[in-house]
Amino acid sequence: MTAPVIEVANLRKRYGSTVAVDDVSLEVHPGEIFGLIGPNGAGKTTTMECIQGLRKPDHGTISVLGLDPQRDATALRQRIGVQHQEAHLQKRIKVWEAVDLWSALYSRVVDPDALLTRLGLESKRNAWFMTLSGGQKQRLFIALALIHEPEVVFLDELTTGLDPQARRAIWTLIADIRARGTTVFLTTHLMEEAERLCDRVAIIEHGRVIEMGTPADLVRTHCPEQSVIYTSDGSTHTLRGEGDDFVTNVINDIARSGVRVRGFRTESPTLEDVFLKLTGHGIRD
Ligand SMILES: Nc1ncnc2c1ncn2[C@@H]1O[C@H](COP(=O)(O)OP(=O)(O)OP(=O)(O)O)[C@@H](O)[C@H]1O
Ligand SMILES: [Mg+2]
Repeated sequence: MTAPVIEVANLRKRYGSTVAVDDVSLEVHPGEIFGLIGPNGAGKTTTMECIQGLRKPDHGTISVLGLDPQRDATALRQRIGVQHQEAHLQKRIKVWEAVDLWSALYSRVVDPDALLTRLGLESKRNAWFMTLSGGQKQRLFIALALIHEPEVVFLDELTTGLDPQARRAIWTLIADIRARGTTVFLTTHLMEEAERLCDRVAIIEHGRVIEMGTPADLVRTHCPEQSVIYTSDGSTHTLRGEGDDFVTNVINDIARSGVRVRGFRTESPTLEDVFLKLTGHGIRD
C-alpha cells in the first residue's frame, strides 16, 4: 500500500481550559474522500487547521504529503488547497479578479477560464462577489482552492446553509475532484452528505474520534437491523431482522402465505442512526 497522504497521531489542542481536540489519530490515503463528522464544537475545524499548519498542536505529530505542516509550511502551501468555514471576500471583487489574485500566490496554476467553466461559473466571470448566490460563492471558493492543482484539498463545512439542489451540485463537484486523483479531506455535520460522498469517515465528539471506517461498514457494525414494512388486508406490518437473506426470506414468506400485498418497502439504517447509537443523541441536538 502507498504511504498515507495525511497522518495524524495523538493530536491534542486546547484553548485555555477548553480541550478542543483530545488525542486524535487518523490516516487519509491517496485519492480518498475522507470526512470528519461531528456536531458543532466537536473539534473538526481545529483538527483540520492543525493539519493545514494554521494552528500549532499542543501534542502529537502530523504529516501531510510527507511534510511537517509547522516546519514545512511554505512548501506545503503550494501543494494543498484550502476552503475555510464561513469564508468571505470583498463585496465588490469580481469573480475573475479573485481568481487572478489567488493565482499570484502560487508558482504553478491551472487555466483560470477552464477552471471557472468546470465549476459552472463561466457566466459569472464579471460578477461581483456580493451578487453571487450561496452555492455560487461556495463554488468560487472551491475554484480558489483548486487554482494551483493541489494534491490534497481541505473543505470545511462546504455545503452548510445551501439548499438541497446547490448541495447536490457541490457533491458532484467534489466527486469530480476526487476522480481527477486529488485527495479530499472534508468536515461536515450532515450525515447524508458524509454517507453519499465519503469513502471513509471519522466520527468526532468532544474532541475525540469515537469511530472510523467506511459508512457502509459502520452501519453494518452498529446498526445491522433492517425493516420490511408491508400492507395487506388493510393493515400495516413491520418486520425487523438482520443478515443478507432477511428481506428475501420475508418476500418468500409473504408469497407462500398468499396474502394480497398493497404496499411494500424496506428501511435500512443510515449513518445518522449510527451516530445516534454511538452518542445517545442526534447530531443537531
Ligand atoms: N480560537 C478559539 N479560541 C477559543 N476556543 C476555541 C477557538 N476555536 C475553537 N474553540 C473551541 O474549541 C472547540 C472546538 O471548536 P471547533 O471550531 O474546532 O469545532 P467544530 O467541530 O469545527 O464546530 P462547528 O461544527 O461549529 O464548526 C469548541 O468548544 C470551540 O468553542
Ligand atoms: Mg468548524
